[in-house]
Amino acid sequence: MLSPLTDRQTGTFAADVLAGLSGTPKTLHSKYFYDDQGSRLFEQIMDLPEYYPTRTEALILETHKGALLESLRGDRWHLVDLGAGDAAKTRILIDCFYRGDLPFEYVPADISPYALDDLTARLRQAYPDLPVRGVAGDYGHAIGWMGRHLEGRKLVLFLGSNIGNFTEPETVRFLQHIHRTLGPGDRLLVGFDLRKEGHVIHRAYNDAAGVTEAFNKNLLMRINAELGGHFDPDAFDFHAHYDPVSGFVRSFLTSKVAQQVRIEAFDRSFGFRAWEAIHTENSRKYGLDEIEALATAAGFTVEQHLFDPKSWFTDSIWRKVG
Ligand code: AVI
Repeated sequence: MLSPLTDRQTGTFAADVLAGLSGTPKTLHSKYFYDDQGSRLFEQIMDLPEYYPTRTEALILETHKGALLESLRGDRWHLVDLGAGDAAKTRILIDCFYRGDLPFEYVPADISPYALDDLTARLRQAYPDLPVRGVAGDYGHAIGWMGRHLEGRKLVLFLGSNIGNFTEPETVRFLQHIHRTLGPGDRLLVGFDLRKEGHVIHRAYNDAAGVTEAFNKNLLMRINAELGGHFDPDAFDFHAHYDPVSGFVRSFLTSKVAQQVRIEAFDRSFGFRAWEAIHTENSRKYGLDEIEALATAAGFTVEQHLFDPKSWFTDSIWRKVG
């Protein structure tokens, strides 16, 4: 699994770290979690007993794949997978569509050309007759490419509740960009983690084994490795907080002591007061009304919400009309 959110250009990383640590409150953008070590830690998170979203979405796809296949019959499709990674969940659909003789081309998009090569090779072996065309680049690039190169019906997947890591304006811009590149009758399937009991959400982001803590602190290690930072991860406390009013999980690293942390790349130090926070991530949880409002704001009509038995997560299918 590679970066769900993507921008690995060092220049941008440096500029964003400088701006984020200079601001009040201090922030670091979660899209920078996903270096090699961060991607490995995220894979571990997805296997944690507390982290329900991945296995819940897989259950949704398993449950509804047959009906989805039937709803797509009669056309030839491009199945576009934004942030494909190792396509672990998408393979549930690929396998079903392939065995069900649906004519389709699989178009995985990912920031990493290596991940794409690897995925393409594995899919060619498993599904010899399946056309696969990988697109390397960030989401914006992949969406633009799709608009320019794909003729005919498209089903775009944006799985994993990655949408919850965007800010509100980013979310609407992203969805509107997809809408502009689709034709009438094309579909978008978005994975949203839903509002639910606070303790379930709290545990998912404050796991007992401390993997999520390591995932957040890896960002400090990344600054140390790439920008000559002098962060001591043990001098920071991690916690994530679910606010049921806004629906946001907000994750923080807080400095246990008053300290100065030097970063060589900027030739300066950053002062931390005792218990001053760095805001590292938002993971938004949605209500169905909020999902429907987003679909409308981006110009889509909601076709269907697919649920798991507990309604903890939804894969929401939207259609571009006219
Ligand atoms: C990638 N993204 C949807 C995950 C989430 O749930 O926000 C990242 C994550 N952060 C902590 N745990 C998992």
